Amino acid sequence: MRRLLLLLPFLLMSCSSPQPEPEPGVRSRTFGTLSDGQEVMIYQIESPTGMVMEVTNFGGIITRLTAPNREGIFEDIVLGYDNLEDYIEETPYFGAIIGRYGNRIANGQFELDGETYTLAQNNGENHLHGGIQGFDKVLWEAEPFSMGNEYGLTLSYESPDGEEGYPGNLSVKVTYLLTADNRVIFSYQATTDKATPVNLTQHSYFNLAGPSSDSILDHELMLAADHFTPVDEGLIPTGELRPVDGTPFDFTEATPIGARIDLDDEQIVNGLGYDHNWVLSDMSSEMRLAARVHEPTSGRVMEVITEEPGIQFYSGNFLDGTLTGKYGNIYAYRSGFCLETQHFPDSPNQSTFPSTILRPGETYQTRTIYAFSTDAD
Ligand code: GLA
Repeated sequence: MRRLLLLLPFLLMSCSSPQPEPEPGVRSRTFGTLSDGQEVMIYQIESPTGMVMEVTNFGGIITRLTAPNREGIFEDIVLGYDNLEDYIEETPYFGAIIGRYGNRIANGQFELDGETYTLAQNNGENHLHGGIQGFDKVLWEAEPFSMGNEYGLTLSYESPDGEEGYPGNLSVKVTYLLTADNRVIFSYQATTDKATPVNLTQHSYFNLAGPSSDSILDHELMLAADHFTPVDEGLIPTGELRPVDGTPFDFTEATPIGARIDLDDEQIVNGLGYDHNWVLSDMSSEMRLAARVHEPTSGRVMEVITEEPGIQFYSGNFLDGTLTGKYGNIYAYRSGFCLETQHFPDSPNQSTFPSTILRPGETYQTRTIYAFSTDAD
């Protein structure tokens, strides 16, 4: 019996369908057409290890991302749709670039250099993820590139002065690079001709167990954060940096996401689960580990490395079984999670938070890495 157990991984490996040989490169195809006739593309990027990332230039959305489990089987680990129309019609920001401002700005208003700016209010009275037509819903210019045997995509967008209420013409460049060691590197860059808030991020929803799983509650999460920013019922930070110690927000040691998610805790209630910004303990603005997720059945591990001061951990509390995605999957409550590296929500109205204001002559620059491995590596 013991012998059989030892042999099991090898038996499983030989029974499963063989993985195709990797063909590193970028291949493009048409994804659909916008109502104004513009063609939307999908870029399929493959790494030397066989990881595949598909990105559309509509919203810079990652529509598919495969990663190996501990037996070397690749599966799609992100939520999303298989057609453009669904992304246009209704999406909770599946896989998209978020801008100009990741997360909420209270009452869709802020003051800057003595002027009051009014933004689109698209989340109750608040402004969320850049507004009604944020960077997740615009067509980006896409340019594939290679670095040796590694491939990626550069996405560029010119956001005009006044878009969604924001001041200044903002030139934005985001690159996605899929590396030979199973990492996705996101580099963000922006310049402006008037002072404006900027806080760009990526909104992929993950389920590391693969597409047949409909819950993330058994994933074990570590967040390298001693504090988080508590929120009011509208999910606007109160301004406090609260220690996580002794609260359901303490993920300094790996803990299953579901272990404390339904506790009768004021902050859990306000977030409908986890939907908060964690303040990374290392405030050095160097690349450092922010989060690590381990999925026990597949063995997949995802690490988030970033220069940003914060990370929004969102446990998919607004997924409610009404959206049907790829593979005919019905996206159930808490069937995907997001780890959005960022400056803190509502920073333009919170003078004690690190500033998010970009001024003419400066360059906004930040990087985040999603690194994939397994517990067998
Ligand atoms: C973010 C927010 C959530 C929710 C999702 C999108 O993660 O923090 O409150 O709006 O995006 O559904």
